[in-house]
Amino acid sequence: MVQRRPLIAGNWKMNGLAGQLSEIEGIAALAGARPDLDVALFLPATLIGAAVPGAGKVTIGGQDCHAAESGAFTGSISAAMLQDAGARATLVGHSERRTYQHETSADISAKATRAHAQGLSVVLCVGEDAAVRDAGKAEAWVRDQLLASLPDGADAAWLTIAYEPIWAIGTGVIPTIGQIADMHGALRSVLASMIGEDAQAMRILYGGSVTGDNAASILGLEDVDGALVGGASLTAAKFGPIIAAV
Ligand code: PGA
Repeated sequence: MVQRRPLIAGNWKMNGLAGQLSEIEGIAALAGARPDLDVALFLPATLIGAAVPGAGKVTIGGQDCHAAESGAFTGSISAAMLQDAGARATLVGHSERRTYQHETSADISAKATRAHAQGLSVVLCVGEDAAVRDAGKAEAWVRDQLLASLPDGADAAWLTIAYEPIWAIGTGVIPTIGQIADMHGALRSVLASMIGEDAQAMRILYGGSVTGDNAASILGLEDVDGALVGGASLTAAKFGPIIAAV
């Protein structure tokens, strides 16, 4: 069996000013004590440059990038800009961007391709909303979303998948452990159908209301290779117990 190295990732969303850099240093200290796992923080672009010097082994990433190399896209950020600022990774396809910025799976695939071309590693998010889950269609729906979002040349060396049910994000409600296990198993099978053997090496994270209290049971599942954490990643005090749960 392939051993996948756990990844605990924080997504700061539209939170974080210079005053919070000390939290990143605190998280770096916790990460430094765990050579057995990877830790990443997806920060607002404005904090990346300032965060990198104190980040230690924590991979600093952006939260989105444009699919184009450069050009007339006011307000957008390119993969090259993220990399230039010191980032080594980026999120793509977070549900908040799919919803509020109307990003399609084709857009997300193109963004992932651009980020990889720029040397960034990528965490690509998928997940169903409550209506799809209630209709009993979650697995089929997320499988189709992954099929449409996965970039050509997807490879475990640079790509990680994050399963984040929209109804679990920021709500304090999480799927049952069985639902998480089923979805991650289904995603691993879809990956295998698309990329073959490498699917066994690709990390699949769970995200949505992960806290120090529920992390151990989620992270203990066979096909869960880490977590993507929003609210509980903003301070070392809250993020630390999630890292410790691995
Ligand atoms: P949450 O967010 O942990 O605050 O639910 C997760 C995410 O959106 O990545």
